[in-house]
Amino acid sequence: MDTSHLILHKTPRSAAVDDRNIIIRGEGVYVWDRGGNRYLDLDSGVTRPVHVGHGREDLARAVYDQIIKLSYFTPCGYANEPALELSGVLTTIAPRGINNFVFECSGSEAVESAMKLAKQHFVCRGEEARYKVISRKGAYHGVNGLGLRALGTMNPMRQLMEPLTPGGLFAESPYCYRCPYRMSYPACELHCAREVERLVEFEKPESISAFIGEPIQQGFGVAVPPDGYWPAIQKICRDHGILMIMDEVICGFGRTGRMFGTEHFDVSPDMITMAKGISSGCVPLSAVGCTDEVLAPVDIFNHLHTYGNHPVACAAGIKNIQILREERMVENAEQTGRYFLDGLKALETRPTVGEARGKGLWLALDMTLDKRTRSPFPEENLAGIVSRAKQKGIIMKFMGSALEFAPPLIITRQDIDGALAVIDECVAEEEKVLGFRS
Ligand SMILES: Cc1ncc(COP(=O)(O)O)c(C=O)c1O
Repeated sequence: MDTSHLILHKTPRSAAVDDRNIIIRGEGVYVWDRGGNRYLDLDSGVTRPVHVGHGREDLARAVYDQIIKLSYFTPCGYANEPALELSGVLTTIAPRGINNFVFECSGSEAVESAMKLAKQHFVCRGEEARYKVISRKGAYHGVNGLGLRALGTMNPMRQLMEPLTPGGLFAESPYCYRCPYRMSYPACELHCAREVERLVEFEKPESISAFIGEPIQQGFGVAVPPDGYWPAIQKICRDHGILMIMDEVICGFGRTGRMFGTEHFDVSPDMITMAKGISSGCVPLSAVGCTDEVLAPVDIFNHLHTYGNHPVACAAGIKNIQILREERMVENAEQTGRYFLDGLKALETRPTVGEARGKGLWLALDMTLDKRTRSPFPEENLAGIVSRAKQKGIIMKFMGSALEFAPPLIITRQDIDGALAVIDECVAEEEKVLGFRS
């Protein structure tokens, strides 16, 4: 097969495209490459959307049926049945008060639309000066303009595109294993949240429209914030009239053992963004949800995508949520996730495994060269572990200094036992290369 005409995302052009990275088939928690090798997909398609597993015929049927019935009609001035139905379904499962939805095609578009809606909310209220958005260092909110402005890593994706739309502010993340303030919880008294208050005061609250953050943050490898963090952020936002946007693109639809990640933290966001698990990745679908209060001043949401509120994508979303609920996948994520985390915790005895953490089926092993200083694990050695795992039939990834695991929500304890043995073996082999004795 001629591999020279396709541009891969974030991949050197010199990287080989061969039978081992052409994935041709998926079923349940497994995928097969073109060479016939089978892999356990421990990160749900690597970018982690495949919540219900690969190859669901009922999902395919829902898409097929909708294409035959109505494959497309504009979101401008017209509604369609699947979009109406999906917005109704989401109202019953979304965090408290999130009642209004618009559908897009990707997480990046959802973030972009959420920020635009936040800005329009304030413009319609006569508060045009609120153009800034607070994000967090280490955050990822996609690659469209306003999401890129909130991309909190020193990442060529953002730097390359500068100058960006002005108004991006960054707070530190609640990443306790390597606290940016070198403090520890609870003695820190949530210093990172209190610093957000100082940032707001410094920048002037009247210039800020929103605070955006993932309930649990991917950037450092599934960083779960300490108790009290999100309520403190919510209080700061409410005190200063700033909208709180929860980016549920990864956490949403059962990933963390609850339907939405927000549910772990006893807060009520003003807006949420969703993607990935909303359709289990089988068609491009994302959404923004907001409260009645956010929408109240906005008569016309001045925004238009040809593929907004797409009937086929929404039909997939409806069927996907039905599968998640009927087959109790969120519960499985909670229970099997706890089993997986226990297995990962047992690996903390290894010299380079600093911390096992996460919620539901979104877990990580934060790796270090020195457990006392918690110095980060070199990227090449993380890549080494990932590549060893692939040789042994497991596809996984790393994020920050951590190995990250986000399998389909149907994974069994048996699959996890096999995965844990391979992870242990690969870490041990990489430790040997680094000169550790285990
Ligand atoms: C939290 C978060 N927000 C937004 C995005 C962007 O989503 P997409 O890649 O679908 O554009 C991602 C992608 O990984 C994400 O993790």
